[in-house]
Amino acid sequence: MNLLHIKLMKKSSWIAALLLWAAPSARAQSVIAGSAIDEPTMFYLAFGLVVVVAILVLVVAIYVLQLLKIFVSQNQTEEQKEEEEQVPSMFSKLWMSWNDLKPMEKEEEIMLDHNYDGIKELDNHLPPWWKGLFYATIIYAVGYILIFHVFKTSPLQEEKYELEIAAAEALKTSREADLVIDFDENSVTETTDAQELADGKQFFEAQCAVCHKSDGGGLAGPNLTDPYWKHGGSMSDVYKVIKNGVANTAMISWESQLNPVRMRNVASYVMTLQGTNPPGALGPDGDLYEPESEARENEE
Ligand code: HEC
Repeated sequence: MNLLHIKLMKKSSWIAALLLWAAPSARAQSVIAGSAIDEPTMFYLAFGLVVVVAILVLVVAIYVLQLLKIFVSQNQTEEQKEEEEQVPSMFSKLWMSWNDLKPMEKEEEIMLDHNYDGIKELDNHLPPWWKGLFYATIIYAVGYILIFHVFKTSPLQEEKYELEIAAAEALKTSREADLVIDFDENSVTETTDAQELADGKQFFEAQCAVCHKSDGGGLAGPNLTDPYWKHGGSMSDVYKVIKNGVANTAMISWESQLNPVRMRNVASYVMTLQGTNPPGALGPDGDLYEPESEARENEE
């Protein structure tokens, strides 16, 4: 019987040790995950999870041990108890020293002399593990003050916020310099870049050819290769029609489906179709567009 209990005791401390070992290894994994994704949020989430798991493990371990203790003491005969007390296990010694507990039979020594309806009070010390944590917070606080307020090696919250905003601002301007995000539809110019024109052509053939024919000769939509236009033949006019569409016609607004760069690419491609005179093209529709009249039109 006694042997069985000791075995159980040992087993339980094995389980506790295993669980405690699992916690740091889980943290190591989360650190790896955090660096792979390179997201501070991910890291904090993972870290939080690890802390929660570690606390749970601790609670479970303590609970299991407590249960075992009760279980063991209930089944022990007086004789066995004495025997057991003579050889306290490694773990129970550790437990006693971490908690600075007075053995049950010596509790009289620390019993305070007041007695409230049978409730007595022991003058126990604070558990050493608790004191250890407390001293650790003091050391941490000193380190914190030195780092953040004395040597100022790390920015405070507000500074950090401003630094991040400034970094984001810098990134934004650098990106804006790389990429024109939007075009003024009144002054947008054609692109001559072969790649961009190819991009425009590809999109035209995929989406616009249904109505304008892949060569631009016109089907349900008007011929885009002749100088006759219903809405003007300048780059700006074509861009506007693509962007805004023509109300109450099959020509929809493409703004929601195309980003400005794409719209400019497609419009530029349409402009290259001028004068290609493909076979089977539809006849003139709209007014003859003369580039000279552009200035006058814009003034209106
Ligand atoms: C569902 C059919 C349809 C599709 C798809 C379509 N269009 Fe049109 N498009 C029309 C029609 C119809 C008109 C004539 C609108 C009007 O009556 O004013 C038109 C007009 C135009 C005009 C003005 C022509 C002018 O005479 O002023 C341009 C430019 C144009 N489309 C370009 C495009 C481009 C570029 C695409 C692809 C992104 C496209 N369209 C997709 C039907 C279509």
